[in-house]
Amino acid sequence: MNIKQILIEKANAAMIAAGLEQGTNPAVTQSTRPQFGDYQINGAMGAAKKLKTNPRELAQKIIDNLDVSDIAAEVEIAGPGFINIHLKPAFLGASVEAASQDDKLGVAQHPQADTVVVDYSSPNLAKEMHVGHLRSTIIGDAVVRALEFRGDKVIRQNHMGDWGTQFGMLIAHLEDMLNEGVDLEAVALADLETFYRDAKKRFDDEAGFADKAREYVVRLQQGDAHCNKLWQLFIDTSVKHSEEVYKKLNVTLTRDDIKAESAYNSELQRMIEVLKEKGLAQEDQGAQVVFLDELANKDGEPSVFIVQKSGGGFLYSTTDLAACDYRSNELQADRILIFVDARQSLHFSQVELTARKAGFLREQTSYEFCPFGTMMGEDGKPFKTRTGGTVKLADLLDEAVTRAKAKLADSDSPHSAQEQEEIARKVGIGAVKYADLSKNRTSDYIFNWDTMLSFEGATAPYLQYAYTRVKSIFRKAGIDSTTHQAPVVIAAPQEKALAIKLMQFEEVLDQMISDATPHVLCGYLYELASLYMSFYEACPVLKEGVSDADKNSRLVLCSLVAKTLHKGLDLLGIEVMEQM
Ligand code: ARG
Repeated sequence: MNIKQILIEKANAAMIAAGLEQGTNPAVTQSTRPQFGDYQINGAMGAAKKLKTNPRELAQKIIDNLDVSDIAAEVEIAGPGFINIHLKPAFLGASVEAASQDDKLGVAQHPQADTVVVDYSSPNLAKEMHVGHLRSTIIGDAVVRALEFRGDKVIRQNHMGDWGTQFGMLIAHLEDMLNEGVDLEAVALADLETFYRDAKKRFDDEAGFADKAREYVVRLQQGDAHCNKLWQLFIDTSVKHSEEVYKKLNVTLTRDDIKAESAYNSELQRMIEVLKEKGLAQEDQGAQVVFLDELANKDGEPSVFIVQKSGGGFLYSTTDLAACDYRSNELQADRILIFVDARQSLHFSQVELTARKAGFLREQTSYEFCPFGTMMGEDGKPFKTRTGGTVKLADLLDEAVTRAKAKLADSDSPHSAQEQEEIARKVGIGAVKYADLSKNRTSDYIFNWDTMLSFEGATAPYLQYAYTRVKSIFRKAGIDSTTHQAPVVIAAPQEKALAIKLMQFEEVLDQMISDATPHVLCGYLYELASLYMSFYEACPVLKEGVSDADKNSRLVLCSLVAKTLHKGLDLLGIEVMEQM
């Protein structure tokens, strides 16, 4: 259920009945304070300004035509023409009951399922995944889970960088390692960073090696069997490294979701032909270039988008054009979401403009570049190791678990050692994920172990703990939280606030899905947990003297809180535990 949506529809109808033009914005919002009601219709002011009439009178006219008797107990005009809606406790009670009996917690399926291609994680395989890939991977995965929960058809695409000049150097080095009889898994490729560094050193210093590397790239791109075999070996190992990280991170990507750069190889020449045919690409110093006036600089010089190098080689840009064509024309995507570092925004503007003109992107396909900011260290500079190196993502995650374990260490713990390990893993990984996901996607943020592992404030441990607290009530009562049912009576203000928050889950998911912003869900879950704590203080559940009706009604609220926290965290890819 989406109360906001219901009110928008009702307000639209009332505005038309009041003589306003179709399409007038009803401006429905959640109220910021209880004295302003629970929701507001603020559209009277804007409409009155346009018509040069009195906004309060117009608001009254809208109210006269507004039929909200099924959901609202009171509707009033406030200030210059706000319409405040106070929801009906009986409506909220019935809605909570219905949601608690529904697998989807009352969240309706999208009436029209979209086909959504989501390009995320997409590391370059020459090296191991580093912290720079964390954001793309987990933000993308959260949005994917939410889209699927709402019933959209999602096609995950891990656009891995497995093609390009570095691979010549890497396979030439790999060949020598094999000839020397080095054990591949255990030694040569166990640490891709070292392997890359060694290869690069030879490329820079060793006579003849760079030439061989260049020759190998050409042979690889021409489909030479020997070079392809070496390349495949390297790619396989590198993909395995990524899979380990996905597993640690509890991310849904699998091998089947890989649609790497090399997959578009056979299409690249055709992209250039089409661009030339349509007069979009032209030769410039031997290269093929698309000049884009739409992205011109201050001096009016068009933006330069190179699609083929002077030697004939293709680029990252060419591959992205082919990806547009495949996703839009072949997969018939309604939406394409791409989670990449904000520093690539010019590239994606160029890709979209060019692809639209060339017909690689259909008009019906919305192309959504979803940029994110950088993860910073305490010093406000991009996150690095103490010695200034890049931090491997796998190491960072291991450290998170170690730190969580230290923080949770308790000699009186009722849990077995193995259970404690499991809890520490969920808390540590959850903390890193929540800290990242809860930040506004586009801003940079400072990575801080102490804040993210704290049990206070908006953190994963706080939410995981809140979940266990709700579950403990059911253990105490000896009642199954998943099946408990009873009539729900909303009386206390804390019950009402909690019920309204519970009913806003769909609204939040809709926003997260349309804007590709998991932080909206993170904020919601924190508010939900906090309202639950206030409710629990004010409205005893199992205390002596509480009537059976109140107890059972409140237990339904508790159980829907537990289910919503569980589902919400699950959509963020964060695991919960029954006890902590
Ligand atoms: N491999 C690229 C990088 O690490 C990201 C690829 C993103 N997706 C795309 N279609 N270009 O920077």
